[in-house]
Amino acid sequence: MKTLEAVIFDLDGVITDTAEYHFLAWQMLGKDLHIPFDREFNETLKGVSRTESLERILALGNRQNDFTKDEKEELAKKKNDHYVELIAHITNEDLLPGIKRFLTELKGAGLKIGLASASKNAFQVTDRLGVQPLFDHIVDAATVAHSKPDPEVFLKAAKALGVPPENCIGVEDAQAGIEAINSAHMVAIGVGDQDVLRNAAYVVSSTEQLNLDLVKTIFDKQKVKL
Ligand code: BG6
Ligand code: MG
Repeated sequence: MKTLEAVIFDLDGVITDTAEYHFLAWQMLGKDLHIPFDREFNETLKGVSRTESLERILALGNRQNDFTKDEKEELAKKKNDHYVELIAHITNEDLLPGIKRFLTELKGAGLKIGLASASKNAFQVTDRLGVQPLFDHIVDAATVAHSKPDPEVFLKAAKALGVPPENCIGVEDAQAGIEAINSAHMVAIGVGDQDVLRNAAYVVSSTEQLNLDLVKTIFDKQKVKL
């Protein structure tokens, strides 16, 4: 019998709007490299690791063979320097709407809360937001071998929470993240555009809409389908 026991969140674009800062930082690097890209292309970078994102941008400009490994590392570092500068001033006021209320509600109901982030900056960001104590376990990119859409980061979080994957909901704003949740055999809730996140079990347009009753209903409906 499947029972909802845990909710595992992505960080960037779900807990806080750092997805926008990743976009701006990559765009700055793209400008230096003369590889312009728009928000539509950026959707394919969301949830994807730093090195893989760089490869995708270089491939877009047909420049994937123009740099040595060391030069690519330098480019990735440059992007991260831009990003770290952009997130330096975030505070708990940068939590997305309703997130603090939703996390508190889940905690109050005795559900476990996990974080499954592809970012190596996840600890710094959650610390600045003041939400680390609300998470029972945080998995960041530093300890994960395979980047989303691989399910590893979600499975690792579920294991650390002591909850079977089929009793978890995953919340994501990225196509790659929804694929990761589905491959982990969890129920996927998307935050964003229904057309972009069409493989999710349910999509909310704003984090404000997330609440315990809604996620329980989605979980129970999905349970019947699986
Ligand atoms: C993900 C973001 O959470 O983390 C991606 O959606 C980002 O856009 C990735 O590239 C890696 O982040 P970082 O902070 O390790 O460069
Ligand atoms: Mg995200």
